[in-house]
Amino acid sequence: MKIAVIGCGYLGAVHAASMAELGHDVIGIDVDEPKIQSLQQARAPFYEPGFEELLGTSLQSGRLRFSTRMADAAGSSIYFVCVGTPQKRGEYAADLRYVEAAAESLLEVVAPGELVAGKSTVPVGTAARLAEMVSGKVPGAMLAWNPEFLREGFAVQDTLHPDRLVYGLPAGPSADAARALLDEVYAPIVAAGTPQVITDYATAEMVKTAANSFLATKISFINAMAELCEATGADVKLLADAIGHDDRIGRKFLNAGLGFGGGCLPKDIRAFMARAGELGADQALTFLREVDNINMRRRIRMVELAREVCDGSLLGKRVAVLGAAFKPDSDDIRDSPALNVAAQLQLQGAVVQVTDPAAGDNIRRSWPQLDVVETPEQAADRADAVLVLTEWKQYRELDPVAFGQVVKQKRVLDGRNALDRDTWTAAGWSYRALGRRAG
Ligand code: UDX
Repeated sequence: MKIAVIGCGYLGAVHAASMAELGHDVIGIDVDEPKIQSLQQARAPFYEPGFEELLGTSLQSGRLRFSTRMADAAGSSIYFVCVGTPQKRGEYAADLRYVEAAAESLLEVVAPGELVAGKSTVPVGTAARLAEMVSGKVPGAMLAWNPEFLREGFAVQDTLHPDRLVYGLPAGPSADAARALLDEVYAPIVAAGTPQVITDYATAEMVKTAANSFLATKISFINAMAELCEATGADVKLLADAIGHDDRIGRKFLNAGLGFGGGCLPKDIRAFMARAGELGADQALTFLREVDNINMRRRIRMVELAREVCDGSLLGKRVAVLGAAFKPDSDDIRDSPALNVAAQLQLQGAVVQVTDPAAGDNIRRSWPQLDVVETPEQAADRADAVLVLTEWKQYRELDPVAFGQVVKQKRVLDGRNALDRDTWTAAGWSYRALGRRAG
């Protein structure tokens, strides 16, 4: 099947290579020339385990190519829209300019019987509006909404082995044709028995934002419990284990710590609130404002804790920040809790050295005021405190005995509840974590 993927960022590039892996003839389109060149040369423009290998084999097979010209996409059976929907500057709402630009240039190439399939996360109501545009300009062309749920760090696996396939289909007779095209694209995934949810546009759009809101709420719930643990002397990690044994609750996404960041959860819950407001249903989502507030408070608490362990003042104190990406196995620093904390520490006069296995170049580009070093040992050189803010495996596995040699004060703050407290305290470190008693 001939497929076009419009927008070759994180989602689009992984989707394009994965569809080629499924045996389709895929063209990825993006207006960003350097990005297209990099992809065409089998170089991933972002860090994602397994992606560069997949890109290489797909390009070699001749089933995948990239272009900056929309005209090269003409003749595809399906055009996936994978452009970004960032948060608008100074507002909660999503910025739809890329979706609109993609749709407009797509109208020049789509033909009757072909399908535009949206994958971007959009405010509910967007698909219906785009469908009118498409059928108004090209009668017989169809639109479907087909959200994705991929996680950074697991993007390839999540695309090729998703938990579910969601199709938001047009009302009326074209629904069957649209569904048949999507089923053909995903044939091996459908054959593997992956659950399918066949629905209307609005439900498909909402599945994505509702899922992300639920995940964000789960994280903020346990972080609210962490605040109470700090007030009562209880232990949030054991609390999470204990409630997580109830499989109605489940242990996943109950890791208390610095909270959520990244390019999806924070902006998706805000855009969802903004859209609910436009629809006159803002009351339904006021709890998400609290979810957001709890999340942001964890960052402030982390800085307070650092000040506390540094004898009440950060001025002139050397602080090592281990981990800066918004989560491990990613170089993504969008709305990274770790970087937010690092910047606050610096503003309060600390001498901050940041290190991250993958995000170094991104930090240098976007946060030039921060000092970035290569290794945890360099970051911790003569440090008054070490903060582990993103739980990369290499930090979880640090040897506290050897690592203790480089610091001035053996004080560790575990921002992700990821270290083994007993091993660190046995090596003479004072251990502090969010939601747990000092060790
Ligand atoms: C998320 C959704 O999981 C995914 O389904 C959707 O398609 C895009 O948004 P992603 O942003 O890649 O994926 O990251 P995720 O693994 O969900 O983590 C989000 C943030 O929550 C990270 O900052 C992570 O550190 C934090 N988190 C996660 C916690 O603080 N505690 C947890 O228990 C889990």
